[in-house]
Amino acid sequence: MVVWTVQVIQVTFSMNFLLETLRVLVLSVYYFLEAFVKLLLPVGKKSIAGETVLITGAGSGIGRIMAIKFASMDVTLVLWDINLDGVKETARVVKEKGARSVHCYQVDCSDRGNVYQVAEQVKQEVGDVTILINNAGIVTGKKFMDSPDSLVEKTLQVNAMAHFWTYKAFLPAMMDKNHGHLVCIASSAGLIGVNGLADYCASKFAAVGFAESVALELIATGKDGIKTTIVCPYFINTGMFDGCKTKWPHLLPILQPEYVAKKILNAILTDQTYLFMPRTIYFLMFLKSFLPYKETVILGMYFGAFTFMDAFKGRQKKEN
Ligand SMILES: NC(=O)c1ccc[n+]([C@@H]2O[C@H](COP(=O)([O-])OP(=O)(O)OC[C@H]3O[C@@H](n4cnc5c(N)ncnc54)[C@H](O)[C@@H]3O)[C@@H](O)[C@H]2O)c1
Repeated sequence: MVVWTVQVIQVTFSMNFLLETLRVLVLSVYYFLEAFVKLLLPVGKKSIAGETVLITGAGSGIGRIMAIKFASMDVTLVLWDINLDGVKETARVVKEKGARSVHCYQVDCSDRGNVYQVAEQVKQEVGDVTILINNAGIVTGKKFMDSPDSLVEKTLQVNAMAHFWTYKAFLPAMMDKNHGHLVCIASSAGLIGVNGLADYCASKFAAVGFAESVALELIATGKDGIKTTIVCPYFINTGMFDGCKTKWPHLLPILQPEYVAKKILNAILTDQTYLFMPRTIYFLMFLKSFLPYKETVILGMYFGAFTFMDAFKGRQKKEN
């Protein structure tokens, strides 16, 4: 009897293994073909009219340009930044561009209490956020041992921890309605380490890992109406990384803010899960996954990952 039961379990297990493996193989071919077709054909864009879009770090750079791009899309805009003048200026411009409803708030995203408090205020004054764009970011720009502890902590708080708190504040309403979009503005420095950017890379790796994990949690709980987008751009000409030089501009160009904002908007409208810019980053990630370590190091040298930060000035020093 016992032998018979063990045999039944073994046969059932093999059947399950075969069926599941077959299912994965068939679906893999299907999804691969689907992705290939999407590469060749223009993908339909969803309408976001009536949505409430919150952008953190909307007081300058990519955040401001994204807000301007959303202005003509019949959405309610909620703009957050620690810099009140900056975010007010963004609000002024987006209103000029025809935005129907714009609300700006001064928020320190590194402060959990402040994020929760202003999030409550937004819910009372504007309503539930349906598209959340975590974009606020800072960079220390020093070698790790020269970075003051306070700046290391701040970088982690703004670039990564703030994402935890905004999700905690706004995700429950999205889950209730099974509707929404979470956008993480990370960086290529969240995929590949860079000499001189230890705290920044750590914060961006954290942001990517966090966004990717919550995305899986949403799939596992059947919340397929909440879309996710992780954005990993190389250097952008916004001022944040002023002074930094790219070694091979034709392979890894410094990106233009307008182009980056356009690509992010397109990724949101087409429910694209990952957006790496420029495309070379996809290839570098592929190489990183299988090349011997020493080879990745010489490739890192070749692509300039050891010298990117040598001439870093950053925005503050430029203004001074
Ligand atoms: N500029 C680049 O080369 C580059 C490359 C890859 C990724 N990114 C990322 O893109 C995002 C936008 O960068 P950007 O180039 O537009 O930079 P930016 O400096 O122009 O904009 C960042 C905004 O975040 C705000 N901010 C900073 N600390 C804050 C805080 N504690 N609370 C609330 N707001 C705060 C700033 O006031 C600013 O308006 C950042 O997350 C950045 O890390 C930038």
